[in-house]
Amino acid sequence: MRKKLVVGNWKMHGSRAANAVLLAGLKEAGPWNADVAVCVPFPYIAETALALTGQQVAFGAQDCSAHEQGAYTGEVSSAMLADLGCRYAIVGHSERRAYHHESDQLVADKAKAALAHGVTPIVCVGETLAEREAGRTEEVVKRQLAAVIHTLTHCIGEIVLAYEPVWAIGTGLTATPEQAQAVHQVLRLQLHAATQKSDAMRILYGGSVKPDNAAQLFGQPDIDGGLIGGAALKAADFAAICRAAM
Ligand code: PGA
Repeated sequence: MRKKLVVGNWKMHGSRAANAVLLAGLKEAGPWNADVAVCVPFPYIAETALALTGQQVAFGAQDCSAHEQGAYTGEVSSAMLADLGCRYAIVGHSERRAYHHESDQLVADKAKAALAHGVTPIVCVGETLAEREAGRTEEVVKRQLAAVIHTLTHCIGEIVLAYEPVWAIGTGLTATPEQAQAVHQVLRLQLHAATQKSDAMRILYGGSVKPDNAAQLFGQPDIDGGLIGGAALKAADFAAICRAAM
């Protein structure tokens, strides 16, 4: 039985004051019988680490560089994330693929860099609405995952995978539990062909997860938790989603 994992993706939201309120709210709402984490903007990682000392909630970043170190202005390395105690780094979020033109290979390289420093990459895959309507969902997510499998080879079992249909992110349009499960099953089978660890690997669903739809999504056999955007910014909502994962 895989333990559920719920990860908050704060995106480019927050302030020191707002974060303190949110993290204090989570502290009061726990503990949960699920793994819980928040992925926060880079400048807030250190303070988040401090606020979460002794707490059940882990923390991480929303991206990392594919490079080890050097003249890469504005980049943050996975060694730095590890230095700050990050457990996770989201890589390949659709917003980065779209707005920063991140390729499947770059995403795979970032995942490799994270793993090299003991930071678990949460690798995001997902199709756009046009791709879904053209019947290309499977082809797209399998291509995105294949690049990561090819690059990580025997380490693929160490990642967390997140299926996030682009058309469901921040739109209020959630994939139905059946739609999500169908894709998760495809991804699990692809992992199964690559690693003996596939049964133990967690595949999260992301895209307009809310307190009122979380339990149904998390009840699907291949959905092992969620990557939560908007609803992770309110302690009560995020806590309710974490409870739904228990
Ligand atoms: P959302 O975002 O929950 O606001 O749809 C999810 C994500 O982008 O990770």
